Amino acid sequence: MKREKVVVSIGGSVLIPGKEDPVYIKKLAGMIKDASQTVQIVVVCGGGRIARYYTETGAELGGSTYQLDMLGIGATRLNAQLLAISMGASEDIPATAAEAARRSAPGNIVVMGGTVPGHTTDAVAAMVATEMNADRVVNATSVDAVYSNDPKKDLSAERFSKLTIEELGELVYKEHGAGKSSVFDPLGIKIAMEEKIDILIVDGRDIEELRNAILGNEIKGTYVSSR
Ligand code: UTP
Repeated sequence: MKREKVVVSIGGSVLIPGKEDPVYIKKLAGMIKDASQTVQIVVVCGGGRIARYYTETGAELGGSTYQLDMLGIGATRLNAQLLAISMGASEDIPATAAEAARRSAPGNIVVMGGTVPGHTTDAVAAMVATEMNADRVVNATSVDAVYSNDPKKDLSAERFSKLTIEELGELVYKEHGAGKSSVFDPLGIKIAMEEKIDILIVDGRDIEELRNAILGNEIKGTYVSSR
């Protein structure tokens, strides 16, 4: 049977929330190594609070958008190095989506961060998925599913177990109108739509849920279909 290919976009807030980070990262690394015996995996790490610290400080120092993005990318690559260390993966972090796809092979986990200014690591995950013709992108995030509204503020917010990529696009467009950061990068959604890549949105702190998403099993989060 053909081995499936999966790109995991792991949010920085999931990877390094600042509470027992090594405990979680060790568990995550073990699970990914285990899952890589069944599916081919590339992991793209977000920047989290380290990126936020640098971009906010850089902004106060008068940095341009380009410069702030470069600081953000630096933080994502540092996080990638951290995960690579715990996984025994290569710490020579790929600089482009094409390079990550080229290095990826069955049983060989590639860990990376951001690439160039102008988007987030969710978009990078969609680009890598395109390059390597992946079966799905798993977005390991800090929410457990996609909701119609912020469930912390709106108790009647609807929780979605299934969405089409067009529906996700509309929800994110609405979110962006309100100036909030979205559950998946709009450029990543556009790429997934064009390339027909499914996106699974799951709680990244729930290791079993994340394992199920990576392996293509039933999930508690949101399955966004592009086909
Ligand atoms: P993240 O991917 O962590 O973005 O990259 P984010 O949306 O701020 O974080 P989450 O998903 O909510 O946790 C951090 C920053 O690094 C820059 C962007 O400025 C981004 O906001 N970046 C990242 C790039 O410019 N290009 C990349 O390829 C990746």
